[in-house]
Amino acid sequence: MIKQLNAVPTANSKLVEWVNHWAEICQPEGVYWCNGSREEYDRLCNEMVESGLAIRLNPAKRPNSLLFRSDPSDVARVEARTFIASVKKEDAGPTNNWIDPVELKKTMLGLYTGCMAGRIMYVIPFSMGPVGSPIAKIGVELTDSPYVVINMEVMTRVGTKVLEVLGDGEFVPCVHSVGKPLAPGESDHGIWPCAPMEKKYIAQFPETREIWSFGSGYGGNALLGKKCLALRIATVQARDEGWMAEHMLILKLTNPEGRVKYVTGAFPSACGKTNLAMLIPTLPGWKVETVGDDIAWMKFDKDGNLRAINPEAGFFGVAPGTSMKSNKNAMLSCAKDTIFTNVALTDDGDVWWEGIGYDAPEHLIDWKGNDWKPGQVDADGKPVKAAHPNARFTARANNCPVIADEWEDPQGVPISAFLFGGRRPSTLPLVYQAKDWEHGVFIGSTVGSEVTAATLDVKVGTVRRDPFAMLPFCGYNMGDYFAHWLDIGKKGAAQGNLPKIFCVNWFRKSADGRFMWPGFGDNSRVLAWVFARCEGKGDFKDTAIGIMPTEDAIDRTGIENEVSDEDIKQLLSVDVEGWKKELAMIDEHYAKFGSHLPEALKKQLDALKARLA
Ligand code: OXD
Ligand code: MN
Repeated sequence: MIKQLNAVPTANSKLVEWVNHWAEICQPEGVYWCNGSREEYDRLCNEMVESGLAIRLNPAKRPNSLLFRSDPSDVARVEARTFIASVKKEDAGPTNNWIDPVELKKTMLGLYTGCMAGRIMYVIPFSMGPVGSPIAKIGVELTDSPYVVINMEVMTRVGTKVLEVLGDGEFVPCVHSVGKPLAPGESDHGIWPCAPMEKKYIAQFPETREIWSFGSGYGGNALLGKKCLALRIATVQARDEGWMAEHMLILKLTNPEGRVKYVTGAFPSACGKTNLAMLIPTLPGWKVETVGDDIAWMKFDKDGNLRAINPEAGFFGVAPGTSMKSNKNAMLSCAKDTIFTNVALTDDGDVWWEGIGYDAPEHLIDWKGNDWKPGQVDADGKPVKAAHPNARFTARANNCPVIADEWEDPQGVPISAFLFGGRRPSTLPLVYQAKDWEHGVFIGSTVGSEVTAATLDVKVGTVRRDPFAMLPFCGYNMGDYFAHWLDIGKKGAAQGNLPKIFCVNWFRKSADGRFMWPGFGDNSRVLAWVFARCEGKGDFKDTAIGIMPTEDAIDRTGIENEVSDEDIKQLLSVDVEGWKKELAMIDEHYAKFGSHLPEALKKQLDALKARLA
């Protein structure tokens, strides 16, 4: 029998048996059930500071905040080691890695055997979504990482109240280990524990709704509520139950007359989703408030409105590039109560990162724990970054100054518009609206983003197709997922109000390489047109690619010098030659889905070709 470190707080026999089963396999020193209390959070933080894994930041600068430095091999989601282990390979589809589930479980069981020796197994009951919401789901994560526990306590709702709602019910079982057992008497000596790359596995078993993660302690690999449950497993549940699990921010938009619309937006990673979710409008009288910055779960209510909840309770934001100018509200969200990972440490116990908006002090400790000076270069003469480019802050949504009052409404908020977008220096206009739902699904299915240095395996400057911004997050065949979107449209049309669909591109460049649109707070000017269109207003022209604002339908008051008449004309025109190249790329992209590509989307592509001919 493995030692129980506290009383088992549930009578759910399936849950208790499952925990005991995994304790026998992983052989931890003891099992601890998390209650989600502040006392528990503080105790774990103190233990990690004492063991040297965490540094407590200067409370006068960053109250109640910690800094962690991960292993340099464990700094991001590992897409190449992420698997959709469906029974049939075809059900994982052409965009996912697949291993036969029987074989994968055998391999992983081998790795899990004894993997928690010398560590505690924490049991984390968590709710994705407000506890008890009809849209929420409950998961239970087993982990041997106290870092994971405290991050889950910020990012999700954890503990006793979740077990009360669970009762005897069903939960999504999530198993996680950092994959580094300790010999008797051995300690981590403050070094981030993880396993080598070839032993890392982030596995989803869609048929049995299980998540098994091994070898990484970082972000989406280890905080299993986020990408693994709220997207990969939830997409499968949503397909079967008739709802939507999407990689989307949710924002509340209020116009100067006080009317409100809720808008969601899907953008590939690193396209400014968190910035848009917390935007400060430059258009007078407009207000943006945040409901969520990464994931939206949406269900039709009895009146046919599509209602969205943010399944998360915090933000796991990228620190570099975040400043008072680019995202003041994110900066204020991480001003206290925050877990920082892989940022640089200042001599006075605060944090610093590239793009924070002010110069680095004369001395820092970089994310690897080394001394760092401004201008430092490596042996090849390349600048050494003080913070890792994927350094993160884990911040409580409640600390966001513009969190919407209704962000935890268990019924969710009614959605009026979906935005799709990516980084597209050419071809795509600033904004256009889909002609109808099917056309909108076509737009979502073809979303792409220019490849920057951060994306592996694809040539810089090419367009990486990232349908619905779900490329690494869809738990089943992406072609069938397109079909699910089409089905939702049929269901919504029969029931009531479907959101309107828009495509936006904040990243268009001029021939001489200048960004033509200022972005950030000025994106409110585009949101204002979206708002108008949702009310059947807003001047527009019908074009081959969709419904586009007329040039003066976008309010440029105050930015006429930055965005000239010529610029706006170009931003709102159809680049026919560019689109012809785009069509060839879409052909190639669609070919991957074979017989799983819905007929309706083939027809959309043919119709677009005909309109552009
Ligand atoms: C994220 C991502 O971290 O999309 O949210 O990569
Ligand atoms: Mn994301």
